[in-house]
Amino acid sequence: MSPILVTGATGRLGQLIVARLVEQKRQVRILTRRPEAAHGLFGTTVQIAAGEFADRISLNAALRGIGTLLLLSPISQRLAADQIGVANAAESAGVRRIIKISGSDWTIDPPGSSISGDAHAAVEQYLRRLPVESISLRPNAWMQVSLAHTIAQVLAGNPVTAANLDAGIGYIDARDIADVAVHLLLAEKIAGGALNLTGQAVKTPRQIADLIATALGRRVAAIEKRPPAVSLDTDFEHRAVAQFATLIAAGRAAVTTDAVASLLGRPPRSVENFILDRLAAEAALAG
Ligand SMILES: NC(=O)c1ccc[n+]([C@@H]2O[C@H](COP(=O)([O-])OP(=O)(O)OC[C@H]3O[C@@H](n4cnc5c(N)ncnc54)[C@H](OP(=O)(O)O)[C@@H]3O)[C@@H](O)[C@H]2O)c1
Repeated sequence: MSPILVTGATGRLGQLIVARLVEQKRQVRILTRRPEAAHGLFGTTVQIAAGEFADRISLNAALRGIGTLLLLSPISQRLAADQIGVANAAESAGVRRIIKISGSDWTIDPPGSSISGDAHAAVEQYLRRLPVESISLRPNAWMQVSLAHTIAQVLAGNPVTAANLDAGIGYIDARDIADVAVHLLLAEKIAGGALNLTGQAVKTPRQIADLIATALGRRVAAIEKRPPAVSLDTDFEHRAVAQFATLIAAGRAAVTTDAVASLLGRPPRSVENFILDRLAAEAALAG
């Protein structure tokens, strides 16, 4: 069986995807600009291809003999160009399936709401035209990013803050995104298009504050706070994040779907369990 190439493998979601593939005894190759760091993370369990998106020669070498590609890159001005470059190189190398980690559905649809959503949309459209089987996963906000940050803030003695305390989010656990991605990488057949991945319930910042308060057995304040102002010279990632805050405050992320359950045959992981596990892990670290 040909190896699976994972880009973004050393990042937050990529590591979870690689771990699952290795556990299932799949041959995995990763593309990284930091082969030594990757070796520290994965040892000899994966093939390490040193290279980067903008370097077609390194891409071609990484893609040699690959049948399936997991396409992930960070939010940046280069997102669309980088991912389209990888997709082109993959097609030339004879890759048969591409699973793309896309932006949250509410950043992509309707167009023009989010600079990073628009960049992901451009890649999705490109993939649809490519003669390669592909699917784009559009995960809602990840528990391991914004919710983990909220928990860390509370543990540091700060309140829960949000632009709108009553605008909920259908948070998804990144482990569920990884489970879905691996399922689709290995499935015999996939439906094309895009999948809106969410957790099982919408939670507002006010409810999150209450859940953390109950778990800690103390009061946790929740305060409304405007998102930081951004100017045109603010970098792409920070502009994108500020747009996310505005869209979330307008209730756009308050969505759940049954995509995770219908693919995996079990419900998505819950916010309640994530909060309890995080607090237990932090307590264990604190000693
Ligand atoms: N966080 C959320 O709530 C959320 C929601 C929906 C969608 N997303 C999407 O998730 C993606 C981010 O995932 P993440 O947080 O797991 O990423 P991350 O932790 O920021 O990791 C970025 C990865 O990209 C690799 N990379 C960066 N520049 C590269 C280059 N020029 N050439 C080759 N590799 C490069 C890095 O590898 P090396 O450093 O090893 O080279 C690293 O593995 C974004 O596309 C974002 O839109 C996130």
